[in-house]
Amino acid sequence: LADNESFWSKYGTFYLKGTGVTLGLSVLGVLFGSLFGAVLALMKLSKNKFFKGIALVYIEYVRGTPLLVQIFLVYFGTGVLGLNLSAFAAGAIAVCLNSGAYVAEIIRAGINAVPQGQFEAARSLGLSSMKTMQKIIMPQAIKNILPALGNEFVTVIKESSVVSVIGVADLMFQAGVVQGASFKPFLPILIVSVIYFVLTFTLSRAVGVVERRLQND
Ligand code: ARG
Repeated sequence: LADNESFWSKYGTFYLKGTGVTLGLSVLGVLFGSLFGAVLALMKLSKNKFFKGIALVYIEYVRGTPLLVQIFLVYFGTGVLGLNLSAFAAGAIAVCLNSGAYVAEIIRAGINAVPQGQFEAARSLGLSSMKTMQKIIMPQAIKNILPALGNEFVTVIKESSVVSVIGVADLMFQAGVVQGASFKPFLPILIVSVIYFVLTFTLSRAVGVVERRLQND
């Protein structure tokens, strides 16, 4: 027990810092990923063949390649272009570009889940297509989209652990640091798994609450 006490006092700050980096990275990734994903979704739903094509290819490509590979692509790709991004910036951009593709599908599916008759009824009542989208479709689509975005946040918290490969000092990275410093292989990883679980479990509970509230009104 005395040993455990010193373990915490020695390494506690590593976990705190790592949790901060993981959360910061995930918030940035999902926030900008959602904005980007909204643009992609609109492009994919648009009648313009060019925009539609670009969105389609992008979304398929990102969802069809591993996040691990995309992180290296961004990290070394920006290097080749002469941009000297920090590991954190490269990691955040990669997570954002990745999440955008998934969010695009969330938004598209959320909009498509609103029955066709809602469009038709609104249009035949004389609403412009813009107003139909604003007043009739989006308020219904948001009930599908918001909970799914929460789940995307949960996914990104877990998946962002991959950025540790380029040296971003997130939770996973700090686990490695503590393993090396303490000469213990298992305990640091066990602790990190518990921290990830507390984060995702709390968040998915919150998503559940929001989801139920949205269904009730
Ligand atoms: N393990 C997946 C991959 O490597 C992660 C995809 C990220 N998922 C997400 N919803 N942003 O491709």
